[in-house]
Amino acid sequence: MPARPDAPRWSARVDPAWSLEAWRAVAREALQRQVAPEQLDWLPGGESSLLDAPSVLHAPLPADAPARVPAVPRDFLELAATCLCHGEPQRLALLYRMLWRITHGQRGLLTNPADPDVLRAMALAQAVRRDSHKMKAFVRFREVPGEEDAFIAWFEPTHHILDRVAPFFARRFTGMRWAILTPARSVHWDGHALAFGPGGTQDQAPRADANEDLWRTYYASIFNPARLNTRMMQLEMPAKYWKHLPEAALLPTLVRDAGDRVQDMHDRAAQAPQRRIPERHIAVRGPATANGDDLDALRTAAAACRRCPLWEPATQTVFGEGPRDARVMLVGEQPGDAEDLSGHPFVGPAGQLLDRVLGELGIDRKALYLTNAVKHFRFERRGKRRIHSKAQVTHINACRPWLLSEIEHVRPAVIVCLGASAASAVFGAGFNLMEHHGRWHTLEDGTRGLATVHPAWVLRQPPGAAREDAYRLLRDDLANLARDGNLLDPAP
Ligand code: URA
Repeated sequence: MPARPDAPRWSARVDPAWSLEAWRAVAREALQRQVAPEQLDWLPGGESSLLDAPSVLHAPLPADAPARVPAVPRDFLELAATCLCHGEPQRLALLYRMLWRITHGQRGLLTNPADPDVLRAMALAQAVRRDSHKMKAFVRFREVPGEEDAFIAWFEPTHHILDRVAPFFARRFTGMRWAILTPARSVHWDGHALAFGPGGTQDQAPRADANEDLWRTYYASIFNPARLNTRMMQLEMPAKYWKHLPEAALLPTLVRDAGDRVQDMHDRAAQAPQRRIPERHIAVRGPATANGDDLDALRTAAAACRRCPLWEPATQTVFGEGPRDARVMLVGEQPGDAEDLSGHPFVGPAGQLLDRVLGELGIDRKALYLTNAVKHFRFERRGKRRIHSKAQVTHINACRPWLLSEIEHVRPAVIVCLGASAASAVFGAGFNLMEHHGRWHTLEDGTRGLATVHPAWVLRQPPGAAREDAYRLLRDDLANLARDGNLLDPAP
């Protein structure tokens, strides 16, 4: 029922205007006072003006006012929380109109997607989700000069999404100190808690750091000219975000040269021998970075990797660890639950089994460089549990530049692959683990390689004889390392 023309007007201030709690508190008061949507001027922010209608908090409480406002569907609150982050001033009124309708006989309002209010709210929410996604993908932290492990990023979101997205960065970069500056608001993470503050300016954030070159080299090495689709690229990476991205400076040249590079790929493909798995000589091709020798910079760049979708549900990138001059590199499949949470490879049950085998063989784990073919945990949720899910070829391929860069930096004499995924990442797809395990192979650059079963596979065998056999197989294969005494000596 529309309000009478002579019904009094009220104002409703929401501060901050993107906060569901703030909006909800005022909306509840207005509902309880039975103030119709047409009687309310919704105003964002805390500053009132003399021209404002009196606050709705001063509206009289009708004698028949219910003690409590009716509960509203959870879906509506979720939609409202997202919509409120939009910059559109009318969203506050739109949501109250919807709330009014839901509590006045149209409880199923959201199930009518043709309703103009529902349509509008959905469109606003969609724009906020898209902006949040872009922020997750395009924030680039730069090291603060003179401070260890402190990073600042400058970002210009379209909507009020900083509060919504900041917890994602806190989960992702738990171990770093960082701040994100935006024009309207900033957030700071000290390793324990998020603190929000006023907005900043771009010149308060470092402009470039040592990782910039790395990012560019990395991007150039993963750029595939044959898959260039400039329309999709601009849709996915709109030009307004380019200024945040060190790699964006490369785009015009990469795009311009794409045609020539594709031709070149065709020519080379025509000449290349078509063997799928070379018997002994296996190619290690193009690392993610050709210059720079800093593994830490590579680790920092990998922390922001978005080359495949695994980064999103995972807690963090689990990069390799160990001496940078290690003579032996162990490559696993992917981090598990414990690794994902701690950020370190091989610390969960499979890592403990590996430690036991290494201990029995007298191999010091600290002398090895441990890494994985895929650097994010792939899992399925079952209730509260996260169940390991095998990495696919696309994930291994997407992650390969990181592995190749680690190999390039560490230059181990020997690479040991644990399990079929690691073996296919290093030796190529189609490597038959059960046929070739425990035997030395030579990679194209002279590095020796050995593949064996994964410790997690050993753990998956039924207890008893089967598991003991599997354990022995792993131990006997790894004994090849112990046999070659020189390998475990410090690098010459
Ligand atoms: N399994 C792996 O392959 N890697 C780890 O880091 C842990 C378990």
